[in-house]
Amino acid sequence: MSTPKSKNITWHEGQVSRDDRQSMLGQRGCTIWLTGLSGSGKSTIAVAAEKALNERGRLTYILDGDNIRMGLNSNLGFSPEDRTENIRRIGEVSKLFTDAGIICFTSFISPYRADRDAVREIMGEGDFVEAWVQASVETCEGRDVKGLYKKARAGEIPEFTGISAPYEEPNSAEVLLDTNGQSVDESVATLVSYLEKSGYLSV
Ligand SMILES: Nc1ncnc2c1ncn2[C@@H]1O[C@H](COP(=O)(O)OP(=O)(O)O)[C@@H](O)[C@H]1O
Ligand SMILES: [Mg+2]
Repeated sequence: MSTPKSKNITWHEGQVSRDDRQSMLGQRGCTIWLTGLSGSGKSTIAVAAEKALNERGRLTYILDGDNIRMGLNSNLGFSPEDRTENIRRIGEVSKLFTDAGIICFTSFISPYRADRDAVREIMGEGDFVEAWVQASVETCEGRDVKGLYKKARAGEIPEFTGISAPYEEPNSAEVLLDTNGQSVDESVATLVSYLEKSGYLSV
């Protein structure tokens, strides 16, 4: 947790615990942290995995990069400092969702290892599932779903991850989803089966 600005604050306990909520929901809260280049498949996988879990009666929620930048983080850009603050806030929000007992997907490029590790750090043991959505720049550029690579190559987008800004590959990801060759269904099946075998889908 980051150090609060004010010293005059005290934690106030509730009477309903996380365990109570999880028993009610029949699942274990967690955050599936999808990280990878733009166009690697984070949003697509989050949406499809959420649908699959929803059909099994599981409660989920998606925090998506672009969507969050329209609201909560609309005052942040793509400088290294703003990227770090973007991820810090999302880390805190996903921690709340996890505490609520919800299976929370986050789809943010989150290019810096230190930022992802900082989120892992504030989460309880087993609450943070780092899922590396792996696709090469060539694959992502070939898809160019939002036309951003074209703009980045033309110099219209500064600090574009994979082109003019770095992506630091995970070295401790719980799940690897190689979308260079896998279909969306295969990636989703890999992710859902990891959640199942790790005990998140039942309590
Ligand atoms: N295995 C896969 N998983 C996810 N997306 C895939 C996969 N294979 C191909 N794709 C395609 O790649 C694109 C990924 O786009 P998107 O999900 O918006 O990426 P991101 O959110 O990471 O920027 C989509 O057009 C999707 O259909
Ligand atoms: Mg996306």
